[in-house]
Amino acid sequence: MTTQDPIYTNHSNRYDAMVSRQPDLYDIINKIRVFKNLDVLDLGAGAGRLSTVIAPEVKSLICTDISRPMLDILENKLQKMSIPLNWKTVVSDHRQLPIPDQTVDLVVSGWSICYLADASENNWEQNLERMMSEMQRVLKPNGTIIIFETMGTGYETPHPPEFLQPYYAWLQDQYGFDHQWIRTDYDFGSVDESIHHTEFFFGQELVDRIIQNQWSTVPECAGIWWKHL
Ligand SMILES: C[S@@+](CC[C@H](N)C(=O)[O-])C[C@H]1O[C@@H](n2cnc3c(N)ncnc32)[C@H](O)[C@@H]1O
Repeated sequence: MTTQDPIYTNHSNRYDAMVSRQPDLYDIINKIRVFKNLDVLDLGAGAGRLSTVIAPEVKSLICTDISRPMLDILENKLQKMSIPLNWKTVVSDHRQLPIPDQTVDLVVSGWSICYLADASENNWEQNLERMMSEMQRVLKPNGTIIIFETMGTGYETPHPPEFLQPYYAWLQDQYGFDHQWIRTDYDFGSVDESIHHTEFFFGQELVDRIIQNQWSTVPECAGIWWKHL
């Protein structure tokens, strides 16, 4: 996994179209931390799968990402929502956030920290420590972190990739996060649409499984980790 994946530069619209077929995560986030009137950071916000869900209720929203094309899609969506909200998008790396200390109540991060916490790459532990320390620095006392990561696309029960398992173990064992998993299936309506929407991102292995199982709904599991400071 590389942090500046060309997919997020060259195929940002296709990525957005794919994840728009997944369930809305409003309830799951709100159950962990009621976000109404909070100052929120969406770390690795991308095209806004999490940001657009929480935007109507929060007090302020900062959306960071390394990819400007992804943030452009998000900006468009937030502008169209025309909500009286104090929001901004900022291109930045998770390891160095241009955000003042103790200014955020809630950090949400979906499927993004993993790019720097891939155990098959050098420095993943240092990266993770830097990201954790940045999140803790920007959070107010009593702040909350909620992280979503993959537990396997094309699986009905958790099947976390091997190269992310050390990161997931660290979240629980070193940093004391709570954990649960949910299904985040993609509802495409037909087998052809499933292939059309997923091939560019997940490749031939998933396409083969879609054909074999005749999936018009592609199963996926996601892990959720959360911590109240
Ligand atoms: C799988 S997408 C998820 C986007 C969004 N959170 C969502 O749930 O749809 C991963 C995002 O992380 C961003 N990203 C990857 N590495 C990053 C880094 N080191 N710093 C900031 N953003 C990063 C990518 O540009 C991409 O937009």
